[in-house]
Amino acid sequence: MKIAVLPGDGIGPEIVAQAVKVLEALRAEGAKIEMETAPIGGAGYDAAGDPLPEATLALAGAADAVLLGAVGGPQYDALDRPLRPERGLLRIRKELNLFANLRPALLYPELAGASSLKPEVVSGLDLMIVRELTGDVYFGQPRGIEVRNGERVGFNTMLYSESEVRRVAHVAFGIAMKRGKKLCSVEKANVLECSELWKEVMIEVSKDYPEVALSHMYVDNAAMQLIRAPKQFDTMVTGNIFGDILSDAASMLSGSIGMLPSASLDEHNKGMYEPIHGSAPDIAGKNLANPLATILSVAMMYRYTFADLATADRIENAVKKVIAQGLRTGDIWTEGARKVSCSEMGDAVVNALAR
Ligand code: IPM
Ligand code: MG
Repeated sequence: MKIAVLPGDGIGPEIVAQAVKVLEALRAEGAKIEMETAPIGGAGYDAAGDPLPEATLALAGAADAVLLGAVGGPQYDALDRPLRPERGLLRIRKELNLFANLRPALLYPELAGASSLKPEVVSGLDLMIVRELTGDVYFGQPRGIEVRNGERVGFNTMLYSESEVRRVAHVAFGIAMKRGKKLCSVEKANVLECSELWKEVMIEVSKDYPEVALSHMYVDNAAMQLIRAPKQFDTMVTGNIFGDILSDAASMLSGSIGMLPSASLDEHNKGMYEPIHGSAPDIAGKNLANPLATILSVAMMYRYTFADLATADRIENAVKKVIAQGLRTGDIWTEGARKVSCSEMGDAVVNALAR
C-alpha cells in the first residue's frame, strides 16, 4: 500500500509525525506500507508557489491513500485567493473526486467531562456525518465579486446534479446499513430548490435500502437537535456547506475537535484521511497538539481503503487504552488527569498497539 503523506501547515507536521509512528510500528510487524511525503497548503506555496504543487497531486493521485495533516496559517491570509492554502485542500478533494466525506463523532466515556454539554446528553454518543465534499456552493459556477449598479456584489451558486446527490446517497445508505439503519438527510428544502432536488433523490435512492429508516430535517433544526439531543441521530447525510458547519458543531459533543478523524472517499474507496480540525497556528511547533484525530484517521484508512478491519479496530483500541490510562493533551485535559505532549501521546499509542 502506497500512502502519500501530506503534513501541511501549523500543527500538521507534528500530528502527522505521530500517525506515521503508528504506521511504522505496523510496518515493523510486516505490514507492506510505503510512505512518501510532499508539501501542500502554505508549505506547498512556500516550496513551489502553489498550494497544491503538481508533484504533490501526482503523488497523491498514484497513491492508494493520502494522509493529510492540516493547512492554513495567518502568514498566507493576504495571498490571492487561488494561492491560499485552503484552495490546495479544495482542489485535491476535487481532483481526486473525493465526494464522500465521513465524519464520525464518538464520545469516549472518560471524556464526557471535557464536552461543553452535560454528560447525560452526550454519553454513549456515536454519530456518523456523511458530508458531500465536491459540489454545492463550494464549487458551483458562477461565483465571484463584481460591480453591479455601481456597487460590489459577491455571489456563489448552490448547485447539485442528481448524479452527485445519488452517489453520496448510496454511500450514506451503505454506511447506515452497517450501523443503526437510521439515516437523516439534512437540507433546507423549505427555501432552496437545490435542497428540494436533494430530498427527492434521497427518497428515490431509499427504495434500494428498504431496511434503512430515512428521515428528513431542515438544517437549522438539525443544528438545534444536535445540541439538544444528539443521540437521536445514527447516520446523517448532507451537502457540502451544511456538513461543514454541522460537523464542527458535532465535534464539540465529543469533548474536543482534536479527537475527530475523517475519511474522504472516491467511488473506489480510495481515500484521503485527515483530522477535521485546522492547523492551530497558535500552538504550532510547541508539541502541544492532540495527535489522536490524525491517528484515528489512520484507523479509518485501514477500515475503508485497506479493508483491514482488524487493524482498524486495533488502532482504535490502542487510542481507547491511552485515554483509559488517563493520558490527556491540553485540549482534553481535566483536573486530575495526566497532561502529555503531542509526541508523548503518539508514543503511548504505539506502546498500547504492541501485541
Ligand atoms: C473542513 C474545513 C475546510 C472546508 C476549509 C479549510 C476549506 O473547514 O474540512 O471542514 O470548509 O471544507
Ligand atoms: Mg470545516
